[in-house]
Formats: sequence, C-alpha cells, structure tokens
Amino acid sequence: MSWTPASWRDKPAAQLPDYPDADALKRVEAELAAKPPLVFAGEARRLRRQLADVAAGKAFLLQGGDCAESFKEFSADNVRDTFRVILQMAVILTFAAAKPVVKVGRIAGQFTKPRSNPIETQNGVELPSYRGDSVNDMAFEPEARRPDPQRLIRSYEQSAATINLLRAFASGGFADLGNVHQWTLEFVKDSPASDRYTELAGRISEALAFMRACGVTGDAARSLESVDFYTSHEALHLPFEEALTRRDSTGDAWLATSAHMLWIGERSRQPDGAHVEFASGVMNPIGIKCGPTMEPDDLFPVLDKLNPDNEAGRIILISRMGADRVRERLPHLVKAVEGEGRSVIWSCDPMHGNTVKTDSGYKTRDFDRVLKELEGFMQAVAGEGAYPGGVHFEMTGRDVTECVGGAKALTEADLSSRYHTHCDPRLNADQALDMAFRIAEALTAARTGTSRAA
Ligand code: PEP
Ligand code: CO
Repeated sequence: MSWTPASWRDKPAAQLPDYPDADALKRVEAELAAKPPLVFAGEARRLRRQLADVAAGKAFLLQGGDCAESFKEFSADNVRDTFRVILQMAVILTFAAAKPVVKVGRIAGQFTKPRSNPIETQNGVELPSYRGDSVNDMAFEPEARRPDPQRLIRSYEQSAATINLLRAFASGGFADLGNVHQWTLEFVKDSPASDRYTELAGRISEALAFMRACGVTGDAARSLESVDFYTSHEALHLPFEEALTRRDSTGDAWLATSAHMLWIGERSRQPDGAHVEFASGVMNPIGIKCGPTMEPDDLFPVLDKLNPDNEAGRIILISRMGADRVRERLPHLVKAVEGEGRSVIWSCDPMHGNTVKTDSGYKTRDFDRVLKELEGFMQAVAGEGAYPGGVHFEMTGRDVTECVGGAKALTEADLSSRYHTHCDPRLNADQALDMAFRIAEALTAARTGTSRAA
C-alpha cells in the first residue's frame, strides 16, 4: 500500500549502473521528470484488453526488435524496416492462427542492458561492461565505459522520435493491409521465405478485393487501413523509469510512460528486489522472463506482488529456457501456474537461452535451435492444457549476418560480413520471415488438428 514511483529505492537493485557523479544523475532525473510522456494510459489499457484476449486464447502476441537499440544505428529507414518485418510476420501469423495478432516492438526505449559480468577483460585490461547506449559507450576505453547520465536524455529523445515515426507508420497509410505486397524488403526478394510471403500476400489481396466487391465498407474496412502497434523494453534503468512515471488523467493509477509494456529481466526478477517493486505499482502490462532455474516458488511471490487481483492481460511469462532444457524445465512451471488458476500469457523467447560464442569470438544463435526451443515450448505449454500465446524475438529489418542458419543457410564464416548488433545476435529480415512461417505451420496444425508432417 505504500508504493510510490520511488519506493524501489528501499530495495536491493540488481544491474543498475554505478554513476560516478550522483548529483549529475539527480539533475537528469529532474529534467526527465519534466518531459512529456511517450505513451498514454488509454493506450496501455487498450493493450491490456488485447492481451486479456491473448490470455483467453483468442489472440496471439508477437513481440520483437533489437536486443539493444543504439544511437549510431538510429534512422527512419531502420525503424521503418523493423516495423515492416513485424507487420509481415504478423500477417503470416494472423493468417495461420486465424486470430488477431497483438504487435509489440522491442523499440523506442530498449537502451539498457543487464550483463552477466560487470567487468569486461580484453588482453588483461579490465573495464566496466557496456550496459547499453543509455549508460555508456561500446568502445573499450575507460572514458567510453564511464556511465554518463546525459545519455538518458538522448535515449528519451530518440525514443520520442522513434515512437513518433511508429505512430505515423501505423496509422498514416503505410500499414494499410492493401499495401501487403509493398512491405517486402529489396534484399529479401530472392529468398524462399519471400516467395512464400508473396504468395500469401496475393491471397490476402484477393480476399480484400472480394470483401470490397461484397460492399464491406465503413468501420470494418477502415480497421484494415491501420494497425495498433505498441512499444516495450526491459524496465531495467529504474531512475529513468521513475522519472517517466506519471499518474493517469483519472488520478487513480500510475503509468510508466516510457513504453506501453515493460518486462523484468532474468537477472532482476528477485521477488524482494527493486525491479519487481517498481513494476508492482504501474498499470502497464508486465513481462517476466523465466529462465531455466525458475521454480514455482520463485515465481509465485512475484505474481502475488505484480498481479494480486489476478487480472487477465497484466502478466506475460516469457519463457527462455534454451532449446535443450525447455521440455524438462517448463512443464512443471506451467502446471503449477495453471493449477493455481493464475491468469498469464505464456510467451516464448527462443533467443536468450540459445546464445553461443564461435571460435572467432562472435556471439551467435542457430536458427534451428531457436526453432527447436519454440517447438519444445509449444508442446510443453499445450501438454499441460495451457495456451502457447506468444513469441518474443530479437530481430531486425536489416540484412545483417548475426544468427546462423535459416533458408539462406548463413554459416559461421558469414558472420563477419554484416555483424552490427550492439548486444545479442538478431534474426535478419529473411530469417524472421522464415521463422514466422515455421510458427505459422505449428499454429495451423494446432488449429486444424493436422500433424505437422501433413
Ligand atoms: C533481453 O531480452 O535482452 C535479455 C537480456 O533477456 P534475459 O533477461 O531473458 O536474459
Ligand atoms: Co538480448
């Protein structure tokens, strides 16, 4: 009952940067507290309603974007390309699941990273780890790695510019389903995933023409001209989140105005920790990463704090167990949660449990292992009678070479050619489309009761 946007400060906080100049941070917090909100309570409520449909098995959640956004890679083209690949994936999944797909980007605020090791060592030199562009710089130099609070202002400004673009793309005509053919990126055009997409887009265009011929007009037709697109990031940098937390206009609820949805990471989900405390008081939908060590006894106290009234659409459990462990680790968690009648969305992040380092030092992920985790997840959740309701990807609209495999069979030798990520390896646009088709096959099979081989 004593929650305030600052009450997290009395709790142990994992993963927060150590600022050398506390006063400079205070000044930045005050500056941020005077800035306009990035998202609005009505939007967060609408997302919660749509997520309640996901929890009820009536819709599907697609969440994706960069591991870490960066200042350097920011451009309108990059935002547009990520947005359009998410639209393409959503179309593929909508068609297969025959359900609405709720679209949430890891975008417009995903600037702070948790790190397994606070110190990075190169050739015997130790420096603080890179923690995302909101905190310090990737360059391995003492000055670059010093946390600088001014970076929070720049993160806010880039987030504001990004969400402005996203709002325009979502409702200004670009996302009109009539443009379904135009969303294909040039460099994807010569791939098998693209051929499949073109075929699907053709079927959608036919269906639209048929609807028009039948005289479907008004609100029903207009709903195809724009999309709801939501933003999300890990609620890691609590001074930043606190500064952007405001009362909604009714005065009854607090909203983290930095994004529509926030999640709590695998390294900061302690039930008595600062991140859970912060998230417990804001009305946004909250994701909780569930890694392979997560037991029901770890999860229940977090659920008690975050969703005491067991409201549908509030909690998204994002399983990230790893391809080899999901079948062993997930079922008893699902069973325990469902057994207590807790309303959650089961979503799968098949990225973070499947990161490996190559001999040449690149962090990568194998398309087939990502797929294997997704399949294991779907079977584990459905096997306990629950609904596998969502997927969570690190992906980009760009033609990068960061994950191996996929239809173009990228190999370790290809990684050096276009490896741009500021943190973890992302699926490129082609791999993301390919992945969407694979999930679509599993969803179609689930819907029609056919086996995947059929
Ligand atoms: C992430 O989603 O970028 C992340 C760091 O995930 P996790 O907390 O699951 O490791
Ligand atoms: Co990541």
